[in-house]
Amino acid sequence: MKNLSGSWIFLLLSTGFAFSLESVLERSYRYNIYPASWADAQDICRRYHTDLATVYSKADVQYQNLGRYYAWIGLDGDRSKWSDLVLSNGKGYFLDSLENQTFAHSAECIAASYHVWYYNSELLINRIYGLNCGSDFFFICQDNPQHNGQGHHGKEYIFIPEAKSWSEAQQYCNENHEELANIDGSDLDNNVHNEDFPIWIGLRRDSGSWNWTESPSEYKSWEINEPSSNGDCVSMSSETFNMAAQNCDKQFPFLCVSDNVVLVKENRSWEEALEHCRGLGSSSHSDLRYDLLSLQPGEEHAYMVRKVLEADTEEVWTGLRFLAGDWLWVNGADMLYTDLPSCPTPGQHCGSLSKDETVGVKTRDCLERKNFLCYGYKHP
Ligand SMILES: *[C@@H]1O[C@H](CO)[C@@H](O)[C@H](O)[C@H]1NC(C)=O
Ligand SMILES: *[C@@H]1O[C@H](CO)[C@@H](O)[C@H](O)[C@H]1NC(C)=O
Ligand SMILES: *[C@@H]1O[C@H](CO)[C@@H](O)[C@H](O)[C@H]1NC(C)=O
Repeated sequence: MKNLSGSWIFLLLSTGFAFSLESVLERSYRYNIYPASWADAQDICRRYHTDLATVYSKADVQYQNLGRYYAWIGLDGDRSKWSDLVLSNGKGYFLDSLENQTFAHSAECIAASYHVWYYNSELLINRIYGLNCGSDFFFICQDNPQHNGQGHHGKEYIFIPEAKSWSEAQQYCNENHEELANIDGSDLDNNVHNEDFPIWIGLRRDSGSWNWTESPSEYKSWEINEPSSNGDCVSMSSETFNMAAQNCDKQFPFLCVSDNVVLVKENRSWEEALEHCRGLGSSSHSDLRYDLLSLQPGEEHAYMVRKVLEADTEEVWTGLRFLAGDWLWVNGADMLYTDLPSCPTPGQHCGSLSKDETVGVKTRDCLERKNFLCYGYKHP
């Protein structure tokens, strides 16, 4: 019981500053500006231990800086035009990934792309990127001056939020008597403004019902006249955050989400699990610590059960413990479960979450061996 008394002391010390600790779940969104089909977007998110985003409220997405995108403009691999653009900037435009990344690693055609970044509705940074011509990005057409008789001035730019390769984009513009936008340094400031475009999220029609793929959420915010019959995958507007049904093969930028919860698929007793979680942080970032997970009833409970489905064992350990006559979370979080036995069967002093338990937690013998859930947090 040596380790346990150690954790008991930790508990006493930590309850001071964890006095009103409720949820320890932290979710973070990551916006990927490279367009992909819905399924590829999900694959890419999962490759980085995240998933296509579940949204719980508008506040989740409102501050995610979703105005960024790449868009082809009319500069192809002719480097002399590139250097004109760079030299004419005089205003701090960057020519990114041109020299060392794209050019160095690929002998393919190089096109310009155009990167806009909004912050608090204000244009913050404008960059020119060298990118592989074969990649699919949005693009910007402009009126063809030969066709409409207009001179260089009064150009009209048309943003097309469909991902195409550079030459497909050029072809698309040409078919509409336009050409890919011939933007130079001075145009950049004047013609850049917020554009509305779709962003994939993790909502999808699944045998008739719209389901979030990563975790359950009741949140839906359809655009007027949506969901339409356009397709089975759902995008969110970069401006209004309203949702629309789309053909799943379309390519859009996408939003991934990850959280601070780790399912450890090792079979350990409760105390070993506690020790394992607390040992996780020590080798990496010194300010990142881990503990056995505490949880709260309701949406968060449902969210965690979804994680438990991935476990090797029917139940997983949580940080729930019966000590000195009370059920507590070992991290000092508030106890909001009300149906725990006040006089648990001897030995059944540890709490687990099971795959089939939709509302409560189970009390179990602490020596049983189960997978377990740890969570990470920043230690000040
Ligand atoms: C590209 O990389 C080389 C070697 O690392 C470096 O010397 C050079 O300055 C880089 N060029 C640019 C434009 O960053
Ligand atoms: C999708 O949602 C419906 C209704 O809530 C549910 O019956 C169905 O099991 C869900 N499908 C998946 C794969 O979660
Ligand atoms: C843990 O236990 C489960 C159920 O008994 C078993 O299926 C699984 O293979 C075990 N995992 C390890 C890593 O031993």
